Amino acid sequence: MKINVATGKVETKKTGGLVLPLFEDGKNSAVVGRIDKALGGAISRLIKRGDFKPKPGAVHIMYPEGRIAAERLLLAGLGKGSEITLNRLRHASGKAAAALRAAGAQDLVIVVDGIGPDAEETAQAMAEGAALGLYRFLKYKTNEEQDKKKDIRTMTLLTEKASLVNTMQTGVKIAEAIARSTVMARDMVSSPPMDMTPAVIAAKARELARSYGLRVQVLERRQMEKLGMGGLLGVASGSAQPPKFIIVEYRKGGKKPFIALVGKTITFDSGGISIKPAENMDKMKDDMSGGAAVLGAIRAAAALKLPLNIVGLLPATENMPGGRAYKPGDVLRTMSGQTIEILNTDAEGRLILSDALAYACRYEPAAIVDIATLTGACGIALGQEASGMLGTDDALKRKIKAAGEKTGERVWELPLWEEYYDQIKSDIADMKNTGGRAGGVITAAALLSKFVKKYPWVHLDIATTAWTEKERPYTPKGATGMGVRLLTQFLRDYAVENTKVGVWKKGRR
Ligand code: BES
Ligand code: MN
Ligand code: ZN
Repeated sequence: MKINVATGKVETKKTGGLVLPLFEDGKNSAVVGRIDKALGGAISRLIKRGDFKPKPGAVHIMYPEGRIAAERLLLAGLGKGSEITLNRLRHASGKAAAALRAAGAQDLVIVVDGIGPDAEETAQAMAEGAALGLYRFLKYKTNEEQDKKKDIRTMTLLTEKASLVNTMQTGVKIAEAIARSTVMARDMVSSPPMDMTPAVIAAKARELARSYGLRVQVLERRQMEKLGMGGLLGVASGSAQPPKFIIVEYRKGGKKPFIALVGKTITFDSGGISIKPAENMDKMKDDMSGGAAVLGAIRAAAALKLPLNIVGLLPATENMPGGRAYKPGDVLRTMSGQTIEILNTDAEGRLILSDALAYACRYEPAAIVDIATLTGACGIALGQEASGMLGTDDALKRKIKAAGEKTGERVWELPLWEEYYDQIKSDIADMKNTGGRAGGVITAAALLSKFVKKYPWVHLDIATTAWTEKERPYTPKGATGMGVRLLTQFLRDYAVENTKVGVWKKGRR
């Protein structure tokens, strides 16, 4: 989809679908009033009758029949003007775009004047919401050619103030980089595990490297053995797919220290010998969502040419049972030298991450952020509305939290008090890989913390936010791409803060 910015009168704009956002309390009433008048008062009658309430997320399609140039007019509710947030803007454009596509529109024009406080951020939010709300995964559908023909091909953000066009174009560029990267991550996570193996992900990283001038290195089993990556090798031992340790470097930050992003990349989690129940096991293809988010964020950072040095680390393997598989009772020696007793082969994420975090320390990074579909317990603790956040550094946690609020990919902190460490003490090794049911998010993070040395570190548990069974305004059912927008916002903020270019924008949803 092509996204444009244009200036001109709303009434005369030819389009298959005109989106007119409106507030409950008539904040952007000037343009709404004009369109209402052109339609002979049809909008105000509709609202008066109570058939349409401009609540957040409400949409209503009207057919102007020649009274304005648009073929369809979609009213998109924004709620109260005083309560407007970027997330509400994304909601509105996401729902509007999907509804107009369903109605048959092949292009969109969105009226943006007067709906947000900042022209760049408003343009970004509207473009991002629409691009993400239109997401579909059709690769494996053989009869959807018709559907593909019905895709929306262009979207135009329309302003009547010519002076805003440049600023809005900047917002659109940012939205395109971020939305495309999120779509890439969603596609990877949606793909069947047979087609999204460690080798395929390594190839994907190499392809990104060619397009964006990244440096990619893929460690094979032999090299993992040399480095002593017993965690990753232990988990990989039951799989016929060779594991890969994927290293992606983006270096546009001069002499600045690296930011390390570490993503759990289990391309299928059967549980291994501690095998999972059959029900919902298919969903365990999403266990590489952390790795997909890291690749997505680096892609976006590169597309936005952020002045940073970033390294992405993806320990990639399946977790499978088999004659050679690692077993409960085994003790793995990790790259850091620390040993882990295995109580449950289904607690595999922390094992591969232990090696990846140790590898991250070799960069002496300014920050380490890991992102992982780590524990079902996180969904019990927080449900699907927040990812779990734990870490060692308050300043870093604040930055991640702010990025979460701004992007709508919200995080909520859980404690990492020393008392919790008792739960992962082992009788025969340095630690054990499960700490029991109580506080499962926390004991998993406690284990990870043993591998980050003194570097500022934050862990994000996205186990139940990486996938949604519920249709959301700009997140259709399925893979959410969780983490791409959050990490990209974090990186953008970090770049601003560390180069003192531009103004630090306060977190706003
Ligand atoms: N990949 C799973 C976590 C998960 C669960 C992700 C549900 C998405 C939805 C992880 O590897 C796992 O199996 N964790 C275990 C840990 C337990 C054995 C200590 C869990 O959460 O049950
Ligand atoms: Mn598991
Ligand atoms: Zn897992």
